[in-house]
Amino acid sequence: MIARHSILFLLAIALSGFALHAFGGRQTPPARTAAAKPETMTHPYGKTAEGHAVTMFTLTNAHGLELRAMTYGAIITSVRVPDRSGALGDIVLGFDRFEQYLNDPPYFGAIIGRYGNRIAGGQFTLDGRTYSLAKNNGPNHLHGGRKGFDKAIWQATPSAGGAAVAFSRASPDGEEGYPGNLQVRVSYTLTDSNELIVEYHARTDKATPINLTQHTYFNLTGDVAGDILGHELMIRADRFTPVDATLIPTGQIAPVEGTPFDFRRPTAIGARIAQPHQQLANGNGYDHNWVLNRNGQGLEPAVRVVEPKSGRTLDVATTEPGLQFYTGNFLDGTIKGKGGRVYARRTGFCLETQHFPDSPNKPAFPSTILRPGQEYSTKTVFTFGVIKEGRAE
Ligand code: BGC
Repeated sequence: MIARHSILFLLAIALSGFALHAFGGRQTPPARTAAAKPETMTHPYGKTAEGHAVTMFTLTNAHGLELRAMTYGAIITSVRVPDRSGALGDIVLGFDRFEQYLNDPPYFGAIIGRYGNRIAGGQFTLDGRTYSLAKNNGPNHLHGGRKGFDKAIWQATPSAGGAAVAFSRASPDGEEGYPGNLQVRVSYTLTDSNELIVEYHARTDKATPINLTQHTYFNLTGDVAGDILGHELMIRADRFTPVDATLIPTGQIAPVEGTPFDFRRPTAIGARIAQPHQQLANGNGYDHNWVLNRNGQGLEPAVRVVEPKSGRTLDVATTEPGLQFYTGNFLDGTIKGKGGRVYARRTGFCLETQHFPDSPNKPAFPSTILRPGQEYSTKTVFTFGVIKEGRAE
């Protein structure tokens, strides 16, 4: 009887090994303890200068993966996932204390709105009317303006019996210069398949540009002591949108073939980042929009990242047409983050699934205009996993 059990056990291990091999090395991290029920805990976190209370939510899945997010900016403050030995580590940049988030950090973990990335000259014309926005990034408008969605207090509804929280807010007509009352809802769900599902919904009463995204800085080592240049990246994109010196797309859609922007095969982020290339000079590194290869409208795989030392992997699938891949080029060591760690240049990278920058001024790009009666609905799934020793894919 015991022998029979052992044989069945060995067979099960062999089959799971086969499954791992057959599906490209993706693996559910081992449960550290017996599977627990997913849950969402709520606790007070801080107060804004105006006295608004800020609440933190801790989402935990059955395998012990944990995500924290707060009502200020719908900011994801920590994501704890296992490495290949099962040890949990925090893989996102951020702070220990709430007050540190008020010092205008570069959008750590935040929801960006109304418009992710830049709008040239802080201006666009819609239905014959020209709108002026704050120029908060040199000559351009960036990430929704001076007080974008990243600095707003959101309403929150935590899940009663699962690991999820939904944030919502009403962005009034004229906020940061944008037209229309916009009702926005963004939810974070941590599944027992080790996915973080981010869903975005919005409705408006006047036509408006909208381009929501998530601005988490990842460092899969679980320790921000070093840079992210050793992470291996794959982006499913044959093309990207070159930019001018102020990071506004030129309007051209260029092939990645033969350039340092070709990540169609897994390549270390740092392998070509220092090459003499005008686009790398304009971006101060990678800070560009990739045009994702898509077959339709649904959720499609876009990115895979492997961190060889820890074995951690991150897969991203999205309904969006673009990906802003940003290598933390503007982090300059002046910010002290969690545990007093100095966030030096390129110690985190962002994978911002979205529409293309400056689309309101680029009629050839996919439209970012939401009209009354339409529903804005997009989805991005981040899947956390591990690879075994010595496997790069
Ligand atoms: C932009 C960078 C910018 C950063 C702000 C990214 O989305 O592409 O140019 O510096 O956000 O932290």
